Amino acid sequence: MSNRSLLVLPGDGIGPEAMGQVSRVIDWFGDRQSVSFDVQEDLVGGAAIDAHGIPLHDDTMARAQEVDAVLLGAVGGPKWDDLDFSIKPERGLLRLRKEMELFANLRPAMCFDALADASSLKRELVAGLDIMIVRELTGGTYFGEPRGITDLPNGERRGVNTQVYDTHEIIRVARAAFELAQKRGGRLCSVEKANVMESGVLWREEVTKLASEYPDVELSHMYADNCAMQLVREPKQFDVIVTDNLFGDLLSDCAAMLTGSLGMLPSASLGAEDENKKRKAMYEPVHGSAPDIAGQGKANPIACILSYAMALRYSYDMPDAADAVEKAVEDVLSEGYRTGDIMQPGMKLVGTTEMGDTIIAKLKQAA
Ligand code: IPM
Ligand code: MG
Repeated sequence: MSNRSLLVLPGDGIGPEAMGQVSRVIDWFGDRQSVSFDVQEDLVGGAAIDAHGIPLHDDTMARAQEVDAVLLGAVGGPKWDDLDFSIKPERGLLRLRKEMELFANLRPAMCFDALADASSLKRELVAGLDIMIVRELTGGTYFGEPRGITDLPNGERRGVNTQVYDTHEIIRVARAAFELAQKRGGRLCSVEKANVMESGVLWREEVTKLASEYPDVELSHMYADNCAMQLVREPKQFDVIVTDNLFGDLLSDCAAMLTGSLGMLPSASLGAEDENKKRKAMYEPVHGSAPDIAGQGKANPIACILSYAMALRYSYDMPDAADAVEKAVEDVLSEGYRTGDIMQPGMKLVGTTEMGDTIIAKLKQAA
C-alpha cells in the first residue's frame, strides 16, 4: 500500500457537503484499489475564523506545505462579510495560493454532452466544448504593491491596487500553458490588454519570445475584452488560454457558465516542479460557497469530485483512476441524474448525497 498524503479543507457554505461526497469516493479507492490516501482534514475561511479568529491558522498553512496535495471546498459567506478585509475568509485561500507559490491555475471548461442544453448559449455553440484557461495565480492586481486605502489631504480617500508582473512570473505561467497546449490541441491564445497597459505589453513580448521553443504550438494574442466577447460568440475557437490573475478570474467564470453550470467545474493550482519532479498543488471547484443553498443537501458535488480527479491525474500520477472518476460522472449525467443547478425537464432531480451514491455506483460497476 502506497501512502499519498492529502489535506482536505472543506471550508464554508456548500464546501463541507460537497466534500463529504469526495470523501466517499476517496474511501472507495482506498478500499478497492489497494491505494491508501493519508487524509487529514482542517479548517479554512469562515470556519477557521469561527474557531481561531483568523481565516487560516499557521499550523494549517504548515500542513498544506507538507502534503502531496490540498483539496479545498469553498470559502466565504454573509456571516463574515463585515469583517475587516485582512481577516476575511478569502484571505485564507489567497494565503494558501501565495505561500505555496501556486502560480499556474488550470481551469478546464468542458461541456458534457448531456448538459449542452443547460448552457445559456445554444447547444451547437457549446456541445463538445473543451477549453483550458491557465490563470496566473500569485501575482498581478491581487497581490501587487502599493495597495490599500489612504486618506488624502483634501479629505477624500483613495483606494489603490497595482497591476504588476515581472518577467519570470510571465515566463513560468506561459511555459505551463505552452506545455498544456502541446498535450492538447496545439493552440495557445495569450490574453492581456497591451493596447492600454504596460504590464500587457510586457506580457505579450515575453510570451512571444517563448513561442520559438514550442514550434508545435500555434500562438495567438487577444485583448481581454475581445476574449470575453469571443467566449460567448464562438467559444469553440479556443484551445488553451493563458492570462493574468484578474482577467483569468473573470474569463474563467464566463467560460464556466458556457458549460451549463459552475457546479460542474474543477480547477488545479500548481507550483514549480522540484528536483524530484513533484509540484505543490491545490485542487478546488471553481464555484463558490453558495450560502443560499448551503446545508440543505442540494449542492452539486461534481465540481469537487472532478477536482479530486484532477488531483489523481496531476499529483498522484493515477491517470486511470482519474479517467474512471470522470467517466462515472459522465455516465451519471447521461442517465439523467441532475442536481438543482443543472436540472432540466424530464431529468431525475437528486440531492448531494444521492448524486454521490450514483457516482460511486458507477465506479463500482466499471471496476
Ligand atoms: C476564484 C474566486 C477567488 C478569486 C475568491 C474567492 C478570492 O473568485 O477562485 O475565482 O477571486 O480568485
Ligand atoms: Mg473567481
